[in-house]
Amino acid sequence: MPDDRIRQPGLRDRVVDAAQAAAWITPGQTVAMSGFTGSGYPKAVPLALAARIEAAHAAGEAFQIRLLTGASTAPELDGALAKVDGLALRLPFQSDPDARRRINDGSLAYIDAHLSQVAQNAWFGVYGDIDVAVVEAVAIREDGGIVPSTSVGNSKTWLDLAKRVIVEVNDWQPPELEGMHDIYYGTALPPLRRPIPLEHPDERIGETALRVDPEKIVAIVRTHAPDRNSPFKASDATSERIAALLIEFLQHEVARGRMPARLLPLQSGVGNIPNAVLAGLERSGFRDLTAFTEVVQDGMLDLLRSGVLRSASCTGFALSPEANAAFKRDIAFYRDRILLRTQEISNHPELVRRLGCIGMNGMVEVDLYGNVNSTHIMGSRMQNGIGGSGDFARNGFLSIFMSPSTAKGGRISSLVPMVSHVDHTEHDVSIVVTEQGVADLRGLSPKQRARVLIDRCAHPDYRDALDDYFARACRTSYGKHTPHLLPEALSWHQRWLDTGDMRSGATVTASAS
Ligand code: COA
Repeated sequence: MPDDRIRQPGLRDRVVDAAQAAAWITPGQTVAMSGFTGSGYPKAVPLALAARIEAAHAAGEAFQIRLLTGASTAPELDGALAKVDGLALRLPFQSDPDARRRINDGSLAYIDAHLSQVAQNAWFGVYGDIDVAVVEAVAIREDGGIVPSTSVGNSKTWLDLAKRVIVEVNDWQPPELEGMHDIYYGTALPPLRRPIPLEHPDERIGETALRVDPEKIVAIVRTHAPDRNSPFKASDATSERIAALLIEFLQHEVARGRMPARLLPLQSGVGNIPNAVLAGLERSGFRDLTAFTEVVQDGMLDLLRSGVLRSASCTGFALSPEANAAFKRDIAFYRDRILLRTQEISNHPELVRRLGCIGMNGMVEVDLYGNVNSTHIMGSRMQNGIGGSGDFARNGFLSIFMSPSTAKGGRISSLVPMVSHVDHTEHDVSIVVTEQGVADLRGLSPKQRARVLIDRCAHPDYRDALDDYFARACRTSYGKHTPHLLPEALSWHQRWLDTGDMRSGATVTASAS
């Protein structure tokens, strides 16, 4: 009988079950897997591997691996391996509660990296040899090409570099995904690198499948399992207010002649606020927009449907179950409008700069001078990671960061004297939006930025205390260019750690002056 998922007959005898495939992975190995934001990750081999690791630990044997992926994955991968303490190292991004717990209790080493840089680092051996690659595919073609599923991420690099390859062929993934990918094989390494020939976000420059040496394929596992597809969280009033302010700002930029009516290619992080922005764009009157981004989420499918968005270039999907069903139903429509690329291309600084992307990302906190913390709660607890936000913040035409003005029911201010960790420096942050307002930091000196951020973005509960800090810093700081009172600068965070409320810190600080 013809097998339309494994079309290369010579490979069919390599089909085994997940436990047999996982047996190729041994303690201490570096294993590189597909997957980006809960899509296109292997679903059976990691679970079988976790079971093996658990059994080994029960028998008193050490068994951990070093795990590389495109970005975050899902409970069946990150969660399962973290739960059994199977990870010695994780990179470059995660958002899993079990992995996060281990990272923050100090038992799991984590390298949080710019997503555009991982492939190059891997090529130069920065992460050591890659022993095994495990990638999910929609199909294996007649010529042996691997058709990726709902994400591409770093799979091209993993297949090129790994000594052995395991392929999971998932027939839950629609066969019509074939043809949606654009895998560029022209990325030579320095000093031989050449310009990337992409001038428009919807341009094709590559191939529709991943190349692999068939000799390296040691196992093929058949699966039928869904992507993570987290339920869609309806946006709240705060997110909607942030979205409305941001869209008004974009309209203003068009009116000022700084951007065309079709805007510039959009990059959008995932989550509540970015989804509210996408929903807001639906009603905004903008048409014929493009996206050059990492992830296509629910809101982008809606924008493509309504014609607000003409095309989306990405490296993976992050859809709810309903949006996934809608995507599968209308896949012929989306195939003409969505391109899936490797993450070294979706996030490439050269392309982000050339296309002039509008980067729109969430943040944990921002400080008076515009430095942004995207990753660390109270300076030491890892939340998720920098992901691709730095690729777009540093290189985009506009670098927009968004957050509610407070966290933890108002007990934390998102605008603080000094961020407790810096991911994006004041030089890479152009616009800050909270539900209080928009701060346009472009063309402003540090003290001017502080004024605008306090006036436009601070929650009223914290405005006086921020004003007070800034005024005293301007009077008595060692230097008056970026005024700070160093011993006091992080006292708000410490007060929250001590009392669970930054307001008490702010009051004490203010009255101490
Ligand atoms: N201080 C302390 N804690 C804070 C905080 C602050 N200023 N702001 C948020 N938090 C806490 C929240 O209370 C919440 O804690 P909980 O999990 O215990 O409830 C947690 O951080 C997450 O906050 P939430 O508001 O749910 O986050 P979000 O979904 O809006 O995401 C980021 C915000 C910053 C975590 C997210 O945008 C991110 O991971 N960014 C970095 C990667 C990125 O930008 N990716 C996009 C391009 S790839």
